[in-house]
Amino acid sequence: MLKLWICGSNGQIGRALNDMLDPLEFEVFNSDKDEVDITSIEEVMSFGEVNRPDVIINCAGITHIDVCEDDPKLAYRVNAIGARNLAIIAAKINAKIVQLSSDDVFDGRSMDPYKEFDKTNPITVYGKSKLAGENYVKEFTSKHFIVRSTWVYGKGDNFVKSFLEKVEEGETIAVAADQFGSPTSANELAKFILYMIKTNEYGTYHATCTGTCSRYAFAKEILALSGKNVKLKAVPIKESDFAAVRPAYAVLDNFIMSIIEVYDFPSWKQALADYMMKGRQ
Ligand SMILES: NC(=O)c1ccc[n+]([C@@H]2O[C@H](COP(=O)([O-])OP(=O)(O)OC[C@H]3O[C@@H](n4cnc5c(N)ncnc54)[C@H](OP(=O)(O)O)[C@@H]3O)[C@@H](O)[C@H]2O)c1
Repeated sequence: MLKLWICGSNGQIGRALNDMLDPLEFEVFNSDKDEVDITSIEEVMSFGEVNRPDVIINCAGITHIDVCEDDPKLAYRVNAIGARNLAIIAAKINAKIVQLSSDDVFDGRSMDPYKEFDKTNPITVYGKSKLAGENYVKEFTSKHFIVRSTWVYGKGDNFVKSFLEKVEEGETIAVAADQFGSPTSANELAKFILYMIKTNEYGTYHATCTGTCSRYAFAKEILALSGKNVKLKAVPIKESDFAAVRPAYAVLDNFIMSIIEVYDFPSWKQALADYMMKGRQ
């Protein structure tokens, strides 16, 4: 049985991992910041040395863009130093490590889907701190999977949830038509991670559901699946009801997994339909 340590287990991806894993296949240690604060090297070392997991999955992070802009020290402490601490214990106990990362390591100015080999250039504190976390993991371990994803929704705070809350208010909703991404279900991302950790195919992966859409098209699809009826207005990012400083182009190409033929993600529409049917509770 593989021993799995899921850090940040109360978050969207941590919860999806717990929902998707087969308890007969894995012995699981869950921790969130009350159990193990990943910014504390002492707490991380002690938990890792006592439990000696085979795989560490780092789902912990400061993920709100605005919180990162307001408190860069906190963002770097968790997203960079936290990742460093987990990489140090992973190397010490010879565990594999999965570091969750984001399209925000790119500047979003491209017109083509970003491949794993493309030059990073984060423009937000969140993106910069996530890139620093990736670099620490590369520096301290070789048995790593760096998994970059985008527009993730699961059980927690995400676009689908906040959009559906606005739908309940019954007003006209303004959604950006000039922001592009690949909506990705946390459950599908979790399935990919649980598959990869059994392999030795280490390295950096872009991991998103397939297909691309604008935020507006995403909202339209959510609305259609919800069976509700409100007016949607396609607007520029700045006028959106969901404004946040984010890269305008958040499309990742799952290039490495396609060339090594290791895994296929479903389309974003299929994954969204599954989530709306059964994945939200
Ligand atoms: N959501 C996306 O669209 C997306 C896309 C690409 C990549 N990612 C990456 O995937 C990872 C997980 O994302 P998510 O959506 O599951 O995030 P999430 O829902 O915000 O969960 C993050 C979890 O980490 C916990 N945490 C914060 N500081 C911690 C600390 N010092 N020690 C231990 N745990 C701590 C949080 O606890 P509190 O809530 O109590 O602070 C929360 O439970 C993040 O690294 C994120 O950057 C997310």
